[in-house]
Amino acid sequence: MVVPYKHEPFTDFSVKENREAFEEALKKVEKELLGKDYDLIINGEYVSTDDKIVSYNPANKEEVIGRVSKANQELAEKAMQSADKAFETWRKVDPEERANVLFRAAAEIRRRKHEFSALLVKEAGKPWKEADADTAEAIDFLEYYGRQMLEIKDGKQIQSRPIEHNQYKYIPLGVGITISPWNFPFAIMAGTTVAPIVTGNTVILKPASATPVVAAWFADVMLKAGTPAGVLNYLPGSGSEVGDYLVDHPRTRFISFTGSRDVGTRIWERAAKIQDGQKWLKRVIVEMGGKDTVCVDADADLDLAAQSIVYSAFGFAGQKCSAGSRAVVHQDIYDEVLDRAVKLTNELVTGETKDADVYMGPVIDKGAYDKIMDYIEIGKEEGRLMAGGEGDDSKGYFIKPTIFADLDPKARLMQEEIFGPVVAFSKARDFDHMLEIANNTEYGLTGALLTNDRDKIKRAKEDFHVGNLYFNRGCTGAIVGYQPFGGFNMSGTDSKAGGPDYLVQHMQPKTTSEGL
Ligand code: SER
Repeated sequence: MVVPYKHEPFTDFSVKENREAFEEALKKVEKELLGKDYDLIINGEYVSTDDKIVSYNPANKEEVIGRVSKANQELAEKAMQSADKAFETWRKVDPEERANVLFRAAAEIRRRKHEFSALLVKEAGKPWKEADADTAEAIDFLEYYGRQMLEIKDGKQIQSRPIEHNQYKYIPLGVGITISPWNFPFAIMAGTTVAPIVTGNTVILKPASATPVVAAWFADVMLKAGTPAGVLNYLPGSGSEVGDYLVDHPRTRFISFTGSRDVGTRIWERAAKIQDGQKWLKRVIVEMGGKDTVCVDADADLDLAAQSIVYSAFGFAGQKCSAGSRAVVHQDIYDEVLDRAVKLTNELVTGETKDADVYMGPVIDKGAYDKIMDYIEIGKEEGRLMAGGEGDDSKGYFIKPTIFADLDPKARLMQEEIFGPVVAFSKARDFDHMLEIANNTEYGLTGALLTNDRDKIKRAKEDFHVGNLYFNRGCTGAIVGYQPFGGFNMSGTDSKAGGPDYLVQHMQPKTTSEGL
């Protein structure tokens, strides 16, 4: 019996020993582990290519995190053939044995926890706390999905008559393509890789090109934990060359994508097209963007409201699909909440994430920097700049945490996903108006309501249309197994990562009936 699931505790960096241990890990990563070359993994073998993806530290463009071999279509085809072949044996492996691979990988990552988090500080520009949470979440996915597999391995109960024995079991689908994001380069990458694996599928993992090194480390851990050859193929490459090729491939059975709405909908369309020789309808799990709202009602605790807005907007520089990029505040307390949020924002420590006190680091790359700075210009036209509004990309991609006030609910800043440290304030006349604004985007991922009124909480549960709704707190930081995560509408297929229904989406139920 495995011990019951409990989420991985976060590291308390106010404790001196923890800070020192993390500093050691950072030193180790800097001195021994940066700048290395990483190979592709195809059929359990390490394959090097001349063409490389270079991963840089977004806080310091000069610092190379690693050089990763870059796949082409020929290598993608090899990976597909190896995954296809490995499926024939992996699908029959005892689910318990499959789960054990995840548990062993989790144990190894736990042993090297700070080392992985230090890599995230470097490769993704995460503040310590955010990096620690990303690693903890990766461990959680391994522990949780391993246990979920044990729970569903015997299928579900159905009826049998005296003349027959009926069974209802879940079987895996086939080869899955995991295309993972750079914003949770460890947790989401690991979760969307191991869910298909533990359920008996084989996977080709194409990690985000901005953060391929942590995925290389992870693939290595998975192999050492006993993932057989061909079951996990590590295949960084360009979306237009390798990504499209794999999405279109007739042997692809399903795709698990996390990233932007544009790419997600494009994958959805391409996967719908039946290719020559294709025998099935491809399944697509997509987790896309959000335009998430923190709502503050007139009776809310104002300090808690300001803290929740600031935390949701600027954690990891707003580069979370769950980020609270809109604050919709009741007119009676609007000025007060805005003032407090501006004050808190101006106190935030920003810059290179060298120590535990830095709250916000850089944004991921030049493309992101330019896009966010463009939105800041739009914001200056559409609203009133209250904090931040400046950037500096001379060394790394730094943008000040930025607040705009008095936005029209239909303004671009209130509608479009910016994916950066920018929050837009809008004033609501009353509670109905607040909900109307909260629901006025094409997304439906997360949201929060600050109120002390039970009736309003009840009403929001019914009418605030988001996949993850939080009360009297911020709208980021879902925990595996506690707050299953995923959104409605253009936020994706609401697949609820870290939830009890997640794994079966990588499987299909089979009924058998045996005459007695
Ligand atoms: N699960 C993350 C959060 O809740 C976002 O991907 O913030």
